[in-house]
Order: sequence, then structure tokens, then C-alpha cells
Amino acid sequence: MYTTLKYVTQNAQQLNYTVGAFNAHNLEMLPDMIRAAKEIGAPIIIQTSVDTAKYIGMDVLVSVVKSIADNEMVDAVLHLDHARNFDDIKQAIDCGYTSVMYDGSHLPFKENILKTKAVVEYAHRHGASVEGELGTIGGTEEGIHVDDNDKVYTKPEDAVKFVQETGVDALAIAIGTNHGQFKSKTEVNIPLLKQIHHVVNIPLVIHGGTGVKEEDYPELINNGIRKFNVGTELLVAWNSTAKTTFASSEVNRSLRHNVIPANEQVKSIIKHKMKLFMNLDNRT
Ligand code: 13P
Repeated sequence: MYTTLKYVTQNAQQLNYTVGAFNAHNLEMLPDMIRAAKEIGAPIIIQTSVDTAKYIGMDVLVSVVKSIADNEMVDAVLHLDHARNFDDIKQAIDCGYTSVMYDGSHLPFKENILKTKAVVEYAHRHGASVEGELGTIGGTEEGIHVDDNDKVYTKPEDAVKFVQETGVDALAIAIGTNHGQFKSKTEVNIPLLKQIHHVVNIPLVIHGGTGVKEEDYPELINNGIRKFNVGTELLVAWNSTAKTTFASSEVNRSLRHNVIPANEQVKSIIKHKMKLFMNLDNRT
């Protein structure tokens, strides 16, 4: 079923697991991403950056995700990742995205609340869910680099106020993760996550999942992470596999021979992550 972020994360909350949110970087990898979810029996959030959404076409993405989800009987959400512009958000929702992230984390706190609230009002009127962000996640997002010195961790008291005043369905928090970290792993601040989870009762979101150690997954999930973003790991796998296949094939050989192995790599990473995200040892 083509569904919302609110729906899949509520189920995850009840049973204590997390939903993988995987960045699609092109249309080629998309069917195998959803089929990975089918094979595991898990829901999936397909997310696109604003730039990827514009490159592929928002209406095209909606049609593809919706039709595969319905045909394969997988709970799939289509989510706009890190949008900062209300017009992009409105366009995505009008095209049929079932979830959007408004990223006002770079704004002063009050302005972030006001702008996020306006997005929530629009999205909820149209049946879509909203993820907000508080604090800054390191690395690069939408081409904007956040220096380590400029990283700001989420304050639990701000999180309470933000959630109450905006009505968001999920909250992205900054607890030490970085976008695009694929050569090393990060130290996540679990004590801070516990403090936030103690006072905020909506689903929490981890960004920069590529750089998170797999041994930390259970503690993150047991403390309220219900959406787990992974992007760079898929991108690196797709690109490096495609580089090898393109380099070794004749120019008149069908493209699928170059692309299928790259899609299969993506599928296998997603299946591996999803098994861990189901948190079977700690389910309620
Ligand atoms: P990575 O690319 O570091 O896995 O992060 C993905 C993400 O958080 C998208 O918003």
C-alpha cells in the first residue's frame, strides 16, 4: 500500500522497530529498493532530495513508487528529504508525495517553529506527514556543508516545545551523526537520545545512517528512533559497481548489463539493513 510516514512509524512505535528510509538517487534503483522491502516483509520509506526529485520528476516518482507498492503489496512511503523551500514542498504534496521534511534547522528557533508549523498545516490538510529538524547534523546536505564546529546538538527542552507548537509527525535530531560519512563511523550520543526520548513522544529520526555503527542500532531503536536514513552507502555501492560494469562492457551491449548489478548491490544492502531495523531480539 502507498502510505504515509505517520502510518508506518506508528506501527514501528507499537512493535519497537525502525523503518528504513533510503535515498533513491535515480529511477533505475527504485524497483529493487521496494522489492527488497517485499522480500524482508518490512515497510520502506523511499526518499529523494529536492534536486533528485526535480531531475526525475515528482509526478514520475509518485507514479512509480505507488504502482510498485500496490503491485507488490508493500507499505511504501514517498518522502521529500531536507526541503527548505515551501514551493518545493507544496509541489511534492500536490504531486502525491505522502511525506515531506521541512528542514528549518539553520533558522533561529522561533522561525523554525513558525515555518514548520505552516508546512504542517498544508501537509495535514492534504493527508501528508511532516518531519521537522532541530539541531544541526554534520556533513553535507543539499550541497550545504556543515562544519564540525558549527554542529549543534538537539536540546531536549527545545524538542518538547518544537513538537508541541508545530504538530510535526516525526522529529530529526542531532546526536552526533554526519551526512555522507562512509569512510569512518561516528560516536552517537546515546545519553542525549535517551533524554530526548524521555520527554518527546513522537517518532524520532536519525540522519546520516551510513556513518552509524551497526552495533548501535538496537540502542537507537530501543530509544525511539523510528525512521533511519541511509543514503550514501547505497550511492557508493551503486556508483562503484556501475563504474566496473561500464568500464568492462562493449558500447553496443545493452545497458541493463551495466545497471542490473548496481541495482542488485543496492537491494542487498537494503535487505541487510532492514533485517537489523526489524529489531527482532527486542520486539515488544
Ligand atoms: P547518509 O547519506 O549519510 O546515509 O545520510 C542520509 C540522510 O540522512 C538523508 O537525509
